[in-house]
Amino acid sequence: MAVQIIRLPQKMQRKALAIRKAGKTIAFVPTMGALHEGHLSLIDLARKKADYVVVSIYVNPTQFGPKEDFSRYPRPFKTDAALCKLRGTDIIFNPDNLYAPDSSTWINEETLSTGLCGGARPGHFRGVTTVVGKLFNLVLPHVAVFGQKDAQQVAVIERMVRDLDFPLKIIRAPITREPDGLAMSSRNIYLSPDERQKAVILSQTLKTAKQMARDGKNPKQIAQTIGKMIAQFAPDARIDYIELRHSQSLIPLKQIVPRKTLVALAVYFGKTRLIDNAVI
Ligand code: PAJ
Repeated sequence: MAVQIIRLPQKMQRKALAIRKAGKTIAFVPTMGALHEGHLSLIDLARKKADYVVVSIYVNPTQFGPKEDFSRYPRPFKTDAALCKLRGTDIIFNPDNLYAPDSSTWINEETLSTGLCGGARPGHFRGVTTVVGKLFNLVLPHVAVFGQKDAQQVAVIERMVRDLDFPLKIIRAPITREPDGLAMSSRNIYLSPDERQKAVILSQTLKTAKQMARDGKNPKQIAQTIGKMIAQFAPDARIDYIELRHSQSLIPLKQIVPRKTLVALAVYFGKTRLIDNAVI
């Protein structure tokens, strides 16, 4: 079946209402495009959850800081559309702009958004929650799929959905990785060959973290070991954070909580900031 591409927000909402009126269900995958296998795995999962799969492709300006890569963020729409089609997307929602010029209303999650990526990226999660809330109102999904790759993002969205009574279910999809373990990311293309090689250390430290937790080590010891491993293997990398937190509440942990301990990393390789995590 052909993919329908919708650019106008009102048209997207009318289409969603028509689907619902026909008694059909909608699974939604929000993205900023430059799709890779990680995004596509979300589409595969969405495909199993509802009658219609809607993928949004929108580089959301409000979640980028003034010094971040909004203008140079890759926008390969044609390839993205072909990939969506290949994986069974019904509708691509690709708006030009979602904000009125005098837009002045925000969704602000105030607890889980602080710290971790919220520390290095002030205002980032306010942009994410606001755009995701707007997208939910336009796509009217029954379920929405988010990647565990952005662990803080999905925790913040789950909290927003609970707190603001959005009538939908959030599904967490596992992290898709390159064969050497590097978590797939649209930003990996910014890495130099040397940085790319060094970046494998991130996923390796997460394996060590798992083993250390099994051996009864505490979060502080695990974070210290991860820091040392990164410094040794990639001396030029700059660590933004290494933290062990509860995977849902994001509360910092002094003791390992089995299967609910999020080990979260953010590390700069040159100018590129990579994140990775594991729930152990
Ligand atoms: P984007 O970075 O394009 O990611 C879209 C979705 O793909 C997110 O849910 C993200 O967690 C997931 N994803 C990215 N890499 C992944 C990987 N290697 N494995 C599994 N899932 C992966 O996240 C955003 O866009 C934006 O903040 C958005 C939610 C669209 C709001 O603008």
